[in-house]
Amino acid sequence: MDPIDAAEFALSLPEVNPNAPSPARIYDFLLGGSQNFEADREVARRAADTMPTLVGAIRANRAFLRRVVRHLAGTLGVDQFLDLGSGVPTVGNVHEIALAINPAAKVVYVDIDQVAVAHARHLLADLPSVTVILADLRRPETVLKHPLTERTLDLSRPVAVLMNAVLHFIPDDEHPERIVADYVAAAAPGSYVAISHAAPDLTHAAEQEEMLDDYRRSTRVPFINREPEQVTAWLDGLAIQPPGIVLVDQWHPDLNVTQAKILRTYGVLARIPEH
Ligand SMILES: C[S@@+](CC[C@H](N)C(=O)[O-])C[C@H]1O[C@@H](n2cnc3c(N)ncnc32)[C@H](O)[C@@H]1O
Repeated sequence: MDPIDAAEFALSLPEVNPNAPSPARIYDFLLGGSQNFEADREVARRAADTMPTLVGAIRANRAFLRRVVRHLAGTLGVDQFLDLGSGVPTVGNVHEIALAINPAAKVVYVDIDQVAVAHARHLLADLPSVTVILADLRRPETVLKHPLTERTLDLSRPVAVLMNAVLHFIPDDEHPERIVADYVAAAAPGSYVAISHAAPDLTHAAEQEEMLDDYRRSTRVPFINREPEQVTAWLDGLAIQPPGIVLVDQWHPDLNVTQAKILRTYGVLARIPEH
């Protein structure tokens, strides 16, 4: 798809302000995507200048998402996916990987960003088994009871709930543990939860804070780094799958090569046990 023309796109989506940087579009630019505006690119460039390990971490995070979906659809036989905070669709989307393994797979994408959702709808128009909804994952009830979710997914059967690089936008006082628990409660036994989450950088704490201060100020969105133990605490009662919570590039790597210099981001897959 061609790069978006900011003015033209803003006219087609009057509620989108191209001058207000958005996490979805900043991330899209850092991944090499085209669905972003100059205001997003400015924040992204400043972030990558301050924290050169950021881009590697973002790409490693996206590669983790692809591998986790391949593992779920292939090895574990999961055929339904609820991707919360799915972002702007880029190469190697969840549905592309799942459908390549199982053409009967179903995918619901959920994002709060108008541009991400509009672009996804455009890409997915011809795929009845894949849908995208504009919703806030902090309202599990709204997501789960959305008519398109209900039409696409059968929650009485196992589903993979993906929360990749999104829970860091939810501060403790908005209770991410309750949000995760609500999705777990709605999913059938034998379902899976996959999470990736940014962690504090131990050696470049000052640069990371400078980058995040700018990011938070520019996007007006909170960003909270968490240690891996804080993330696994949300998965209490679930069976954490091997290799546990690890740096994303160490989770079932395709090649046994890890990138030494990426910002810490952890990934984990857990199974909801049968009672
Ligand atoms: C960093 S991107 C991650 C995209 C994708 N999950 C991945 O890991 O490649 C985070 C996405 O979460 C979305 N997001 C942030 N807060 C959200 C919320 N409360 N509900 C739904 N989506 C949200 C953003 O708009 C953005 O597209």
